[in-house]
Amino acid sequence: MNHAETQSTEGALQPETAAAMPSRRGFLAASALLGAMLLSPLWAVAASPATAPASVATAEKAVGVGLPQRVTLTCAADMAHAISATWRSAGPLQSAQGQIAPLTAGPKFEATIQSVPAEAFTIETDSGETAYQYNLTFTGLTPDAQYCFRVGDGQSWSEWNTVQTALDKPKPFSFLYFGDVQTDIRSQCSRAVRTAFRHAPDARFVICAGDLVNHGHNDSQWGEFSDAFGFIAATVPCLPTPGNHDTKRPEKAPEPEAPYTAAPAYHAHFHVPANGPKNAPILNGEAYYVDCQGVRVISLNSNVFDDDAPTDAAHKQAWDALLAWLEEVLANNPNRWTVVTHHHPIYSTSKGRDNAGLRNLLRPLYDKYKVDLVLQGHDHSYGRTHKLAGDQIVDPAAPGTIYVVSVLGPKMYPFKPKFESLMAATASEKQLFQVIEVDGDTLSYKSRSIDGQLVDAFQLKKDASGASTYHPAEKT
Ligand SMILES: [Fe+2]
Repeated sequence: MNHAETQSTEGALQPETAAAMPSRRGFLAASALLGAMLLSPLWAVAASPATAPASVATAEKAVGVGLPQRVTLTCAADMAHAISATWRSAGPLQSAQGQIAPLTAGPKFEATIQSVPAEAFTIETDSGETAYQYNLTFTGLTPDAQYCFRVGDGQSWSEWNTVQTALDKPKPFSFLYFGDVQTDIRSQCSRAVRTAFRHAPDARFVICAGDLVNHGHNDSQWGEFSDAFGFIAATVPCLPTPGNHDTKRPEKAPEPEAPYTAAPAYHAHFHVPANGPKNAPILNGEAYYVDCQGVRVISLNSNVFDDDAPTDAAHKQAWDALLAWLEEVLANNPNRWTVVTHHHPIYSTSKGRDNAGLRNLLRPLYDKYKVDLVLQGHDHSYGRTHKLAGDQIVDPAAPGTIYVVSVLGPKMYPFKPKFESLMAATASEKQLFQVIEVDGDTLSYKSRSIDGQLVDAFQLKKDASGASTYHPAEKT
C-alpha cells in the first residue's frame, strides 16, 4: 500500500526498547490517522480504520490470530538504505511491528535487532470479512548489505527472512520480469515462480507487469498469489504494476470514482514508493520508480490511458498528471539504463488487439528519452521486438527501444500480432519468465519457458556516450 508522503511511517530505525515500542495509544492514534486517509476516494469502497476492540487482548491470545500471513516485500524508493514490507493477520494487533538486523553467520544477533512500528489498516474483503493489514519501511540500512527481518506483534512473529539492500552506485545485478499471473495462481503459476527463483536466486527484485490476479477484489485469489510466491515474496521484493484485472471490483459494488485504479487488496499487498505524481492523489501507489545500481525502473498504471481520451475531469487530471510525471522521471534520470513497465502493450501480440492510443501517447516519450526496455503483459503470449524508434526497426547501433510482452500464468491467447514484422522473437502456449542481468555497459536478457528452455535472448551494450547497440544472442 502506498500513501501520500505525509502519511508514511518511514522513519529512522529505533533501538529495541520499551519506550520505542508502539503503545496501544499510539496504535489507536495511527489507526485514526489512517482512517482519515482511508476516506479519500480511492479507498472509499472497502476500507475502514483498524481500531482495536475491547476484546482484542483476548483475541490476540487465540492461537494464530497474530501470526503474520502473506509477508510481501516491496522495494523502497531508496533501495540502498530501505526496504518495505506488508503482511496481514487474522485479527487486529496492538503492536504491529517489524524487526531487522544485519545478517550474521550465527544465531545470536539479539543485540543488533532494530524495531520499527507498522502502519495498521483494514480492508473489507469480497467475502464480507475484515482483513487486518500492515505495512512498514525499514530505513537507515547499509547499502549492499545482507539483513534478516521478521514482522509480527511482539508475540507472534514470521520467520526471519533474509534480504539484501542495493549498492548506492552501479554494480552488476539481476532482476526478474513476469508477465500476467492472473489465473490458476496456486496450481500453475507457483511452478513458474519457483523455477524462476531457481534460475535467479539473487535477483534484487521481480517486476510483475500487471494482472497479478483475475479479480482485484477477490481475497482468495490474493491468497493464491501469496501461496504461489511462498517465501520468495519475503525474499525478493516485488515491483508490481496494475493490470486491468487488478482493477476489477465486485459486480454489485458502486462504481468507484476512478475505475482505472487498482482494487484496495492490490494496494494492501504492496507498499510501493510514494514518488508518483504529486498532483493526482488518486494515483497513489499506481505509479512510482526505483533506482537500483545504475538502472531506473519506472512502473505506471496504463489503465489510466486505456481510453481514447479522459472520461471525466478527475480522469483528465490523473491522465495529465501521470503523463507529466512520466516525462519528468524520464528526463531527470541519472542512471545509465532505463526500464519501464506497464500492463498494456505498445505493440500487442495477440489476435485482434492494438492499443493505438497508448502507443501514440507513450512511444514518442520512449523514443525521446531513449528508454532501453519496456516490459509489458496483457496479451497472454510472447513477443519481443527488434530495436524500434518511430514504430520502425532501426539499426542496432541507432537510438531505440526494445518492447516485450510475456506471460507467466497458464492463460493463453492466440498469437497474431498486428505488427508481426517488428517482432524479433515470439512464442505462444508457453509459461515464461525472464532474467535480466545488468553489468555496467551490458544488459543481458534471457526469456525461458518453465521447463528451463531458452526461448529468447539478446544483449544491449552501451558506449561511453550512453548509446546502445543491440546484439541478438545464441539461444543456448
Ligand atoms: Fe490484462
